[in-house]
Amino acid sequence: MTIEMTPEEFRRLGYAVVDMLSTQLTAVQSGLARPLMPDTLSRALTDQPLPEQPTPVEDLLKRVQDEILPYPMGNQNPRFFAWVNSTAAPLAVLGEFVAAAHNASVAGGHHAATYVEHAVLNWLKEILTYPRSAGALLTSGGSVANLIGLATMRHVKAPQNVRTHGLHDQPQPLVVYASTQAHSCIQKSVELLGFGSQYLRRIPANEAYQIDVEALKAQIHQDRVNGLLPVCVAASAGTVNTGAVDPLDQLADLCAAEGLWLHVDGAYGGVGILDPDVSALYKGIERADSIAIDPHKWLYMPVECGCALVKDAEAMRAAFSLLPDYLRNDRELPWFSEYGVQQTRGFKALKLWLVMQQIGVEGLRHLIGANNQLAALLAHKITQQPDFELVSGGPLSIVCFRYAPSNHPDVDGLNAQLPTRLQQDGRVFITGTRLKDCPVLRMCIVNFRTTEADLDLALQVIREVGAAIP
Ligand SMILES: Cc1ncc(COP(=O)(O)O)c(C=O)c1O
Repeated sequence: MTIEMTPEEFRRLGYAVVDMLSTQLTAVQSGLARPLMPDTLSRALTDQPLPEQPTPVEDLLKRVQDEILPYPMGNQNPRFFAWVNSTAAPLAVLGEFVAAAHNASVAGGHHAATYVEHAVLNWLKEILTYPRSAGALLTSGGSVANLIGLATMRHVKAPQNVRTHGLHDQPQPLVVYASTQAHSCIQKSVELLGFGSQYLRRIPANEAYQIDVEALKAQIHQDRVNGLLPVCVAASAGTVNTGAVDPLDQLADLCAAEGLWLHVDGAYGGVGILDPDVSALYKGIERADSIAIDPHKWLYMPVECGCALVKDAEAMRAAFSLLPDYLRNDRELPWFSEYGVQQTRGFKALKLWLVMQQIGVEGLRHLIGANNQLAALLAHKITQQPDFELVSGGPLSIVCFRYAPSNHPDVDGLNAQLPTRLQQDGRVFITGTRLKDCPVLRMCIVNFRTTEADLDLALQVIREVGAAIP
């Protein structure tokens, strides 16, 4: 038994895998959004003993076919509306396969993968109206992209060199500001970077779920009076709950006046700038000091693929670069590993490079715009149905609402229970959140397969499942 394969074996098994996946691709689109995985199977997979002896590859592929592929997360299906998990572009799936076969570490160096990543980063900068001179790199996802932006901010803004002193010797506590609607990864970053969550100020949001700029100003002023050092506003370009875009231009003015770093979390909504119907909302993003986006959300990449961008590339490098002697060769350009956390890095750029050229920016604009339009249509349908209540619709592709039949005694309880019941039903996959302290259903459309018929089915299934909840 050997780990090596002959080219013939590789070809035979490769074709078998492609055959299996192309059948599964169709099955996954027409079936349940999330088929219920039997507990016996999930336990058997979890508790499988350490495989001491070899297993024939055919047997393993059969297990993939029978035990893994039939139980997907659901996001390849057009009726998956949960969180922000998009459908993967098929060409990008093939790109992942090629990237694994190529097996480059894109820490840097003079080989093709490095230049492919530079190409896609230049394209992403252009989409975000960011200068080509900005620093950037692909990451595992939005959380790490935000962490990298905020780590650079910490390096620039801390009065004492944070790489040598940490936060111990800073003259005052450093304070970061974000709205109550900011993603939890902002808090995680603030904690990981040692600021402490007590120095993350959660500023109230307005009726449109955007940060309240007046409340922000007042908090910054108060913190200065109390001897603290305000350093950063972490704005959202597309909040995870409702898709709200904070008033970036106003925040850029405020940050410029106060000497604060403006970071923009665009993990979900950043590339919404491509949709001409909403692009005005992004005015000011070009003034941000750092931006996080997530191609594995709205650029339809298979997970994982995030992207961190920092306007001042040298600041980004200064925050991360360490060049031990063994890394001083093969240095055509500064290495990506000098701008982030990882040394060995996967070839994430290839899938994006393929799809961005396959459909062009024109194609992406169309798909993102179509998702936004579907969300607007869903919001409209909800307002037309007396047993539904619209809570938030737009400006991007997230709609929050409640199922509220007039005779139901406990609408809060009903909406709190609905996500679990809907997931058990499986025809649609919908999660919930809380807005204004009430449970709501939340549908996010980042899926190029979703159609109006899927929205109608979702509302019908909510009614059917909801009718069985006392
Ligand atoms: C607004 C926002 N920021 C950050 C993240 C975190 O991104 P990731 O899950 O790719 O780490 C998400 C994920 O949904 C998000 O919606």
